[in-house]
Order: sequence, then C-alpha cells, then structure tokens
Amino acid sequence: MRTPFISANWKMNKTVDETVTFFKEFIPLVNDAKDVDIVIAPPFTSLQAAASIIKGTNISLAAQNVHFQEKGAYTGEISPVMLSEIGCSFVIIGHSERRQYFFETDEMVNKKIQTARKYGLDVIVCVGESLQEREAGKTFEVLKRQVVSGLKDIPSDSLVIAYEPIWAIGTGKTATTEQAQEAHNFIRDQLSALYPEASKEIRILYGGSVTPDNIDALMACPDVDGALVGGASLKAESFAKIVNFKRSL
Ligand code: 13P
Repeated sequence: MRTPFISANWKMNKTVDETVTFFKEFIPLVNDAKDVDIVIAPPFTSLQAAASIIKGTNISLAAQNVHFQEKGAYTGEISPVMLSEIGCSFVIIGHSERRQYFFETDEMVNKKIQTARKYGLDVIVCVGESLQEREAGKTFEVLKRQVVSGLKDIPSDSLVIAYEPIWAIGTGKTATTEQAQEAHNFIRDQLSALYPEASKEIRILYGGSVTPDNIDALMACPDVDGALVGGASLKAESFAKIVNFKRSL
C-alpha cells in the first residue's frame, strides 16, 4: 500500500510572518489526519520558522530547490547540508519552473538528487511535458527522458515522483483523470524498468491546478498517490481540505 502524500509548494510566496499565521490556522485542521504524509515547501527564508512551529506535529518540511555541491563558491545557492540541519526532510528537485527559468537540465537534476540523497534528504522529483510537447504527441518521449536521465544511478528508496504537466500549472486547467492516470501509469512503467521490485512502492504525485474540488477524483486514480499543490496550498483552509480528501472505497 502506498500512503497518500500531499505536499504544498508555496513557490516564492509568504514572508516569515505569513508563514507563522498559516501554520497556526493549518495545524489544528490536520491534527487528526491519519495515513497521509503531509509536507510543506515554504521559501528558504521561512524554513527556520516553519521547522520550529511544526515540531511534534504530523507535518514534514521540504525545500523547493538545492544545489548539487555540498559547499563552495556558489553565490546565492543553498546546500543539502544546510537544509538537513534546519530540519528539512525533503527537497523538490527539477520543478518545471526551475527547468524553464533557471535552465536546469536532466543532468543537473540527476546531480542534485545524488547530493541531496547523500546528505539524508528525500527527494520529490518533478517531471512533465509542455503544451507544445503534448500537442506534438511527445508527452511519453519527454517523460521517459526525464525519468531515465534524472534517475540514472539513483537508488529507489524513499523516492517520490511528481507528474506536473506544465500546461496545467497555475492555469486552472487540470489534467483530466484519464490524462493523469495515463501519464502516471506510463511513469510507473518506466520506474518498473529501473526498479523492478520497488516501482510498486514509489509514490507518484499529480501537480497542476489541484484544488479541494478536484482532489477526490484525482486521488481515486489507481496510480495517483498524492498531490503537489501550488496556488491552493497558500490558504490553510483550502490546503487542509486537500489533505483531508475523501477516499474512495
Ligand atoms: P498550481 O497548483 O498553482 O497549479 O501549481 C502546481 C505546482 O507547480 C506545484 O509544484
């Protein structure tokens, strides 16, 4: 059984004050949530405050990015050692916004995963096609390349994958359950070629305009094991509704 995994990705949103306000409202709303992994990825500047406020709760912390070196002359970058020390359990790697605006390649994604793992961080690895790629019939080709190159020589334990079709991110245009299931099933097939045994245990999250209104249907898809939520994770009430999604029998 794969435990559902619901993660917030706040992107470049929320000051420290706003972070504290969010958690004060959010923690009581998910106190009773069972059999679900709850993860929040605030910006770097809010990690410290978030780490102290979630102590003793059922919430874990993720960073949104990490550098692939442990230290050195990389102005403006943050290393996995720093993230582990501050209380992060996870790091999001290869988000499409990083690939698109900061020119991250599959090779960089792979290096980042390797270093993050070395320093005890679990990774949420993002993959997904653009609208142009989907319309050109290249979705599977892109997903296969991102999975195979990104995960080269990476062991399977504690790996989480997020399928985020770029055309669904922040657009209000969610993938249909058929589109999500088809892509997730394809990703799981790729994973089973890499990890014949463990592929059944790897969680594959869906990301792209997830809301309290569409989470139940998405989570009912056999290969959708969780969600990576942007906009709808910024309000405590709406993210709590997503965490407390209704399970199908
Ligand atoms: P939205 O939920 O705002 O579409 O963002 C999705 C995303 O990019 C999460 O990483």
